[in-house]
Amino acid sequence: MRTIAVIARKGGSGKSTVALHVALAAHLRGRKVLLADTDAQRTATYILKGRRGAGPELVETSGAKLFTLQLGAVKTGADLMVIDTPAVVEEEISYAIVAADLCLLVIRPTFVDLAAAIQTASIVRRLRKPALVVINQAPPARTGVETPSVKRALEALLLLRLPVIPSILRARLTYQSALELGRSVEELDPPTEAAREMAELWTFVEGFLFGRQNAERAG
Ligand SMILES: Nc1ncnc2c1ncn2[C@@H]1O[C@H](COP(=O)(O)OP(=O)(O)OP(=O)(O)O)[C@@H](O)[C@H]1O
Ligand SMILES: [Mg+2]
Repeated sequence: MRTIAVIARKGGSGKSTVALHVALAAHLRGRKVLLADTDAQRTATYILKGRRGAGPELVETSGAKLFTLQLGAVKTGADLMVIDTPAVVEEEISYAIVAADLCLLVIRPTFVDLAAAIQTASIVRRLRKPALVVINQAPPARTGVETPSVKRALEALLLLRLPVIPSILRARLTYQSALELGRSVEELDPPTEAAREMAELWTFVEGFLFGRQNAERAG
């Protein structure tokens, strides 16, 4: 089993949106997924409870219980645990990072989010965990050219030596309307640009987490 911690010291950057979409992406591709909601706001819980039909297993928990939860999940044959975390409670974030094989650091391309990313990156480094940045709520690229805000964010993240997932998530109402139904943008009909960028993001994350396992399966 692999574990992803979705983190950011800045509130509202899109942690719950990304945690839910990553969990649903793995679920839709046949993996057995558990979503651990360690945020007292319970955003992910609220959304997943509104989902009809099969989906990731949901556990309302806290950082201190993650290790026990992981042991139990391994026994049940889970493939992936996704942890949604609160923005401000550093202890909770640290527990999630310790439990994780991979941290997804969610940031908007704004100065305040980048400033907060410095703090988050330092916790991740202290705990020696791999981290990838998800740029979220980005303005659309104009004829394939990124806006100055996204360019600045990419430069800043390069300086911070934080690798960025190439599939940038744009600000799109589809993310909100899909989650209102407890669904991923990938489940909406007709297919949208949001679904395409989310599928690309998952392919990247899956390759990072399960690369060798995928190759073995194929071979
Ligand atoms: N790519 C996106 N496009 C449009 N809206 C988005 C996108 N990502 C997130 N949002 C919206 O932004 C708001 C905050 O998102 P979300 O709850 O996922 O952030 P969060 O980091 O989990 O917040 P918190 O720190 O409160 O836990 C929500 O209204 C969500 O629907
Ligand atoms: Mg949240």
